[in-house]
Amino acid sequence: MTPDEPPHTSSPKPRRPLPPRSVTVRCRLDGPLVVEISPDSLALGIGLRVTDHEGQELALPDDGRPLALCRCGLSGRKPFCDGSHKGRPSTAG
Ligand code: FES
Repeated sequence: MTPDEPPHTSSPKPRRPLPPRSVTVRCRLDGPLVVEISPDSLALGIGLRVTDHEGQELALPDDGRPLALCRCGLSGRKPFCDGSHKGRPSTAG
């Protein structure tokens, strides 16, 4: 990154493989929180559930994509990201 370059345009760091038995929450730039569960965790039966504010379990999206939680407030299927964040002005965060 050069001094004239805004921090949010820097090259992304290479992704490291998930450590065994881990859950990683990745903050995507101007996008959702992406939840990744390591294969070892899945093999051990460690899962993930999302609940509403009253503790009611929500059905996870079944689209074959990593779980993405909306943090922009624009999703039509909160708390999950539906891609509505795309096209809105960058907040670099
Ligand atoms: S972060 Fe994707 S719709 Fe809000």
